[in-house]
Amino acid sequence: MDALPVVHSSPRKKRSRLMGASVAYPPYDIKFHNLVLFILEKKMGSSRRAFLMELARRKGFRVEDELSDSITHIVAENNTGSEVLEWLQVQDIKISSQLELLDVSWLVECMRAGNPVVITGKHQLVSYTVKSDASFGSNPGSQNTPPLAIKKISQYACQRRTSLNNCNHIFTDALDILAENHEFRENEVSCVAFMRAASVLKSLPFTIISMKDTKGIPCLGDKAKCVIEEIIEDGESSEVKAILNDERYQSFKLFTSVFGVGLKTSEKWFRMGFRTLNKIMSDKTLKLTRMQKAGFLYYEDLVSCVAKAEADAVSVLVQEAVWAFLPDAMVTMTGGFRRGKKLGHDVDFLITSPGATEEEEQQLLPKVINFWERKGLLLYHDLVESTFEKLKLPSRKVDALDHFQKCFLILKLHLQHVNGVGNSKTGQQEGKNWKAIRVDLVMCPYERRAFALLGWTGSRQFERDLRRFATHERKMMLDNHALYDKTKRIFLKAESEEEIFAHLGLDYIDPWERNA
Ligand code: CTP
Ligand code: MN
Ligand code: MN
Repeated sequence: MDALPVVHSSPRKKRSRLMGASVAYPPYDIKFHNLVLFILEKKMGSSRRAFLMELARRKGFRVEDELSDSITHIVAENNTGSEVLEWLQVQDIKISSQLELLDVSWLVECMRAGNPVVITGKHQLVSYTVKSDASFGSNPGSQNTPPLAIKKISQYACQRRTSLNNCNHIFTDALDILAENHEFRENEVSCVAFMRAASVLKSLPFTIISMKDTKGIPCLGDKAKCVIEEIIEDGESSEVKAILNDERYQSFKLFTSVFGVGLKTSEKWFRMGFRTLNKIMSDKTLKLTRMQKAGFLYYEDLVSCVAKAEADAVSVLVQEAVWAFLPDAMVTMTGGFRRGKKLGHDVDFLITSPGATEEEEQQLLPKVINFWERKGLLLYHDLVESTFEKLKLPSRKVDALDHFQKCFLILKLHLQHVNGVGNSKTGQQEGKNWKAIRVDLVMCPYERRAFALLGWTGSRQFERDLRRFATHERKMMLDNHALYDKTKRIFLKAESEEEIFAHLGLDYIDPWERNA
């Protein structure tokens, strides 16, 4: 009796499954040993799954019948990334730390090629790999956390990877407008809530198609969910539509597009009955600041945004001027361009010198300004002296002010210096061969360069959440100047951004993944 094969004593159902697994296909040779595939039956159907499994095995792929911790690639058809993740979450199984979730199109291409093809974004249902994340949660490095778990989406932008490939534009555009409207009305709480909602959606590796997809996503309040639902159903949000037609919103949007005009001035002009820039410019009784005057003077150039090629040309100008006085200085483009953006409202630079004395450091920006003035390139400048103190604790505020010496400028960029522009004068006035560009320069002590770089790379939401994370999850204080451990009562030094992330117990996030 004991010698009877197991299969005979199994119940009918189990037997047929076992047969499907081990009897129905001949033992094909496995050619590609570092791949272990699993094909998801959900929405694909059992017969198509069986066909694809057989085909893949014949081509030398290792395909498993059941999900196990050895699987490296899951292939699905007609499933979104979130659906596969949801399905995985209910499978009580430890899975590989580098699991790829792929669309069937990848497998089809492999079958055609007869070997594994390179995985690209278009194949990936989820663009990050599902991997262990010991730093997630409040207990870093804890031995109790499961070593391999599905990565939950963090409420902190500094624990999410946000590239510029936003596949939820129709939702985030709407949420950004709602946030901006609340900003204009100075409702800080609602503004932050909508900004966080927009930010988390920008990090998703899949497009939201139904409300089911929003399950488990943090930072989505009831209001944000209502907006998402309406857009899914009607293609637009009635509230956003109303805001875009609202006179106050339109006026604030227009007024704040002028360099030097913030909420207070906009409020004043709106109350005074102004609705157009022309009326403001021709009103002789209005007192404009030096900044606002420059803002109006160069309005068309400044509102047209800076292209990457223009930013690169500005970079040459900055290096030339800085190196004329401090040859060992490091000049780094920060802000949006460092995050890979193709357009910006300005160009930001961080300058630091390993060899300069404090005095040389302090003298550099004034010398640079003077250098451009003599060359006729300086259209506007505002030098802000340093209020930096070495022993001062980092600020508690998430939108803390920067204490380094800095300069807000408008420079004249001759277009013949811009690569790819040549002699074309698109959007330029007849005979005008230059463009006014907003430039921000920050000068920092060499030993603080990592903090300054991290702080000036942004995005603003990413920075806010870094500080919030440091405060609430690590009992540390972070700003553009330093990191302080409140428990140990010491400043934590860092030579690079990587070291700051490590101090905070965070996985390193590259600049182009900080577009939160
Ligand atoms: N920043 C700062 N302190 C300021 C101004 C800016 O720390 N007083 C930081 C912000 O964190 C911001 C970065 O510097 O992310 C760049 O600022 P800004 O040029 O305003 O934003 P960008 O992200 O570069 O956006 P854009 O491309 O529109 O310029
Ligand atoms: Mn910028
Ligand atoms: Mn800037």
